[in-house]
Amino acid sequence: MSDRRPHRLCYVSDAIRPMAKSELIGLLARARRNNASDSITGLLLYSEGHFMQLLEGPVDRLWRRFDRIRVDGRHRDLRMILDEPALDGRLFPGWPMGWLDLGRAAPLDRDRLQRMVDAPRDGSDTIGRAEVIALLRDFRNQLPKRHDNAPSPAAA
Ligand SMILES: Cc1cc2nc3c(=O)[nH]c(=O)nc-3n(C[C@H](O)[C@H](O)[C@H](O)COP(=O)(O)O)c2cc1C
Repeated sequence: MSDRRPHRLCYVSDAIRPMAKSELIGLLARARRNNASDSITGLLLYSEGHFMQLLEGPVDRLWRRFDRIRVDGRHRDLRMILDEPALDGRLFPGWPMGWLDLGRAAPLDRDRLQRMVDAPRDGSDTIGRAEVIALLRDFRNQLPKRHDNAPSPAAA
């Protein structure tokens, strides 16, 4: 029987090489198509060679999709920073995969993202759940109204 309890995963990873805007647009379009049919929602960030992604949805479908994402050759060294039941509801309802251009984010947000990217690897401290959730909530408040925004191809 399928297990549809809501679950939440968030990881950071390193791109194997800098991603062009056109590649990011393609990745997002595919992700959104797949996620929409799997009831998966979330947020994808790309900044200076690092990804951060939140995925939320039915636990069985979520892990099935994550197992594909994990082995994707475009990134490596995935570090899980959240893995929990989403009992409190989705953080990005309605977003088959939100996209935020961190180039336009406040420098403070870039620093906070960098902390996520660095901390799990150096092992000196673990990132608290509250910190991750707070960062995701702040990012959500910066998203535009449209659910299908993407990097501008003009700048690719
Ligand atoms: C950083 C990153 C994030 C990704 N996010 C998703 C995602 O949210 N949903 C998805 O279907 N594929 C995502 N992908 C692509 C998957 O790795 C994989 O190519 C895709 O799920 C293949 O599915 P398909 O062959 O069924 O279309 C992502 C890839 C990368 C590198």
